[in-house]
Amino acid sequence: MTGSSEQHSGRVHVGAADALPDGSQTEVLVGGVHVVVVRYEGEYYALRNNCTHKDFPLLGGDVSMGRITCAKHGAKFELATGKAKTLPAVKAVQIYKTLLEDGELYVLAL
Ligand code: FES
Repeated sequence: MTGSSEQHSGRVHVGAADALPDGSQTEVLVGGVHVVVVRYEGEYYALRNNCTHKDFPLLGGDVSMGRITCAKHGAKFELATGKAKTLPAVKAVQIYKTLLEDGELYVLAL
C-alpha cells in the first residue's frame, strides 16, 4: 500500500508554519476547494476562498480586527467563524480546520 497519512486523513499540507509569517496569506486546495489560509496574531485560520456575496476570491483581502475583507465590495468575514460581519455579504463562508504538527501546517475539512 502506498499513500501518506495526509491522504488517509484528508488533511492537506500547507508548508512549514514559519514560512507563513504573521499577517500573511496563502492558498491551498482541499478536496478540490480553494481555501485561503491566514496567519493573524499568531493563529492560523482557513476559509473557503470565495466571498459569499458574488464569489470573489478572499485571498489578498485586508485582514484586521480578526476579519478578512473582500476586496470586491468590502464585506468582512470573521476569521474564526466565517460569519459575515458586514454587508453586502450575509451568508457565512465555510471554514476549515488548521493543524500544527512538528512545525508543519495542515488544513482539513471540519
Ligand atoms: S463579492 Fe465580496 S463583497 Fe461583493
